[in-house]
Amino acid sequence: MFSIEKLQAGLNTEFLGREVKYLKKTFSTNVDAWKCFQSQKPEGTLIIADHQAKGRGRRHSKWYSAEGKSLTFSFMLLPEIALEKLGILPLLAGVSIVKGIHNISNILSGLKWPNDIMISRKKMGGILIESRTIKQGLSVVVGIGLNINESEDDIQDKLQGQATSLHIESGEEFNRELILSSILNEFENLYLNFWYDIIPLWQEYCIHENDEITFYSNKKPHQGTFRGITETGHAMIQINGKTETFSAGMVTL
Ligand code: BTN
Repeated sequence: MFSIEKLQAGLNTEFLGREVKYLKKTFSTNVDAWKCFQSQKPEGTLIIADHQAKGRGRRHSKWYSAEGKSLTFSFMLLPEIALEKLGILPLLAGVSIVKGIHNISNILSGLKWPNDIMISRKKMGGILIESRTIKQGLSVVVGIGLNINESEDDIQDKLQGQATSLHIESGEEFNRELILSSILNEFENLYLNFWYDIIPLWQEYCIHENDEITFYSNKKPHQGTFRGITETGHAMIQINGKTETFSAGMVTL
């Protein structure tokens, strides 16, 4: 069982996670977070669940997690930024996750564009950011799923060899509340104060800078060299000697 008291004891944020809704079971915390906008909850309201029956992943995939062992949460933001800067948010979230996990566990994870959290070249977490323009203006839900205390047996058969958890990598059990408070502290600090430093920070943690990768845009694979990200968070990929930029897609290593 997740403890909101323990989570909030570790927070040093102004607004993020100050209002928390904990659900033992839900369909998707992202869906719940959108409902919070309708009920006028304040920016930073956090929804956390021990189990999601219909967790959503990027590119219409499903997000599976082991009940009570992972972190599956979403929070609401009302960013006062130009629409073209939205591509920075997933990168900001990725950097805050790497830093937040490192503060607590000493494990240094890495980032795969646009928003996969990686350890030993396997995925331990993902980010699903959704945005809409509604009554309150530009509104964003940041949804994050992280494998924390899963053992090998908890990883789905089809993801064996491709997914991992903090426990699998270190043999240790982690306090989920401490890890979450550390990530939220890092996120809010970057969001309020260091928006312009995100690109270099993200590149520092990227695990495939200047590597040969396969890039999928609209299911079409391209072989190329990953050359970093633009100031709006788009991927720069050198294909047949020419550098092209992509706002969306998937990198495979
Ligand atoms: C990905 O495909 O890598 C993104 C996965 C995001 C999963 C999280 S879990 C909490 C939140 N609620 C959802 O339904 N999805 C996100």
